[in-house]
Amino acid sequence: MEVVIAADSTSGGSLAGQAISDLLQARPDAVLGLATGSSPAPVYDDLVTRFHAGTLSMARARAFLLDEYVGLAPDHPQSYRSVIERAVVSRLDFRPGSVSGPDGRAGDLLAACARYDASIAAAGGIDLQLLGIGSDGHIGFNEPVSSLGSRTRLKTLTNRTRRDNARFFDGDIDAVPVHVITQGVGTIGEARHLVLVAWGAEKAAAVAACVEGPVTAMFPASALQLHPHATVVIDEGAASGLRLADYFRETWAAKPKWQGL
Ligand code: GLP
Repeated sequence: MEVVIAADSTSGGSLAGQAISDLLQARPDAVLGLATGSSPAPVYDDLVTRFHAGTLSMARARAFLLDEYVGLAPDHPQSYRSVIERAVVSRLDFRPGSVSGPDGRAGDLLAACARYDASIAAAGGIDLQLLGIGSDGHIGFNEPVSSLGSRTRLKTLTNRTRRDNARFFDGDIDAVPVHVITQGVGTIGEARHLVLVAWGAEKAAAVAACVEGPVTAMFPASALQLHPHATVVIDEGAASGLRLADYFRETWAAKPKWQGL
């Protein structure tokens, strides 16, 4: 695992954006994994800047969402489909139909989960998966004790996550769906490169447990430690709980820049 401590979320977002840009240079038809939440916003802003500068295009790329609420209409402003549409898709040149998400309104939700994993596999798998981290260590919506081998499936949110996410529903926890579909920890682990971003001291404890804690289903983000190419991009606040912060600064400073993330 590589940990990069950026000066702030803007420069961290730009590092992750550079990794996506490098991938698209090498493979214009790359498959990206997109995440919701506030953390990826600086990455998406960076991609939009590159797109306007003419150095990045999603015209041949495909993308898959990590997760979706169950029961929200696709055009509900807080469905992850809508959130990703506003934050990313509408600001870049994705082809219509090239961005897919789990179907949280399917009649047969379990079949929809299986279909989603099959569609990721049929696309050749995900080249780069962007991730945020929940305060309880969830990635996607894989809450504590999610199997580290789990596949895309139906999950029940903890009250803590529903409280955290109530800010997107006018502060009303009752408006936050109880059920979700999420890529499993095992599904996420099949992406060829995982890039987790986190900003601010409120994420410091979660980042420390993810990077330096034991690998445990109690903290699903710790599964990144098992991945052959996992990168954690954070700012000083999110790094403030790391015992090895100085080591991470030294290794990043010494890394040949041609190597990228
Ligand atoms: C949600 C999403 C996660 C995200 C997490 C943290 O629960 N399902 O993918 O990582 O929130 O969100 P934020 O980045 O806003 O802190």
